[in-house]
Amino acid sequence: MYKVIKSIKSGKFGSVFLVENESGHKFAAKLFRNKNSKESELSSSAELEVSNFNSFSTKVKDIGKASLISSSSITGLPESLSAKNFNETAMLMPFFQKESEPNYSEIKIYISDLADEDVFMGDPKPDNFFHTSKYGLIPIDFGLVFHKNSPNLSVKYKNALANAPFDYPDAFDNAYTGKVAKKYQGVGVVQSSQLNDLIHIVESDSDSKELLLGASHDKSEETLLFYKTASENKKKSANSCFECCTIL
Ligand SMILES: Nc1ncnc2c1ncn2[C@@H]1O[C@H](COP(=O)(O)OP(=O)(O)OP(=O)(O)O)[C@@H](O)[C@H]1O
Ligand SMILES: [Mg+2]
Repeated sequence: MYKVIKSIKSGKFGSVFLVENESGHKFAAKLFRNKNSKESELSSSAELEVSNFNSFSTKVKDIGKASLISSSSITGLPESLSAKNFNETAMLMPFFQKESEPNYSEIKIYISDLADEDVFMGDPKPDNFFHTSKYGLIPIDFGLVFHKNSPNLSVKYKNALANAPFDYPDAFDNAYTGKVAKKYQGVGVVQSSQLNDLIHIVESDSDSKELLLGASHDKSEETLLFYKTASENKKKSANSCFECCTIL
């Protein structure tokens, strides 16, 4: 059993608590909110984040181990946050002490180094990193931290990585031409075998050197559009859906 010592923070997907086990060891526990997200929407889970955390800890820097626990093994949750508001499974990880919050210029260098190790982060923003005295600068939110060969890297997460330079421009030199941004877009390449219904090449515009490579319906029936320009991948609006990746 894990007893809540204090509530740390609630984010988009859940709530993080400082907890301790029977022998007094402290951990951070992240509970994931129950929510019926559409399959195409970005979602997160304890299973995904534990796997991403442990992959990072093995491949990049040993920051300890994360594991899956049952949400009902956490006692002392605030009344307003009873375990039934959360998924059955929660994430247990080391509790990191934040010395200070990094700024974007540090993040820019850090994610460039990570990309050199084929590790990519879809939401490189200051509150997803800690400066720690033990490990230096580290990510603390593993929802979108993937090795390029990760089995967790499904189409929607590839899209999140390909779009990261546009969504977090302060963390990249240049979303269109920067070396790191291009690596992100490279890892966002979607294999056509990952699409369940590739329709056809819809449009080619030689003047603007833009080519709409294809369109697909994902499982939730939303249209995904894939663009490539002659020189660079480009973020384009298509209905309400933004995509930025190429199809092989
Ligand atoms: N292992 C940890 N040790 C200490 N604090 C943590 C730990 N993990 C998360 N936190 C704190 O909890 C906050 C929320 O965690 P996290 O970013 O993982 O949640 P989230 O719901 O994915 O957030 P968002 O989607 O809004 O970025 C972090 O900004 C950090 O302050
Ligand atoms: Mg976060």
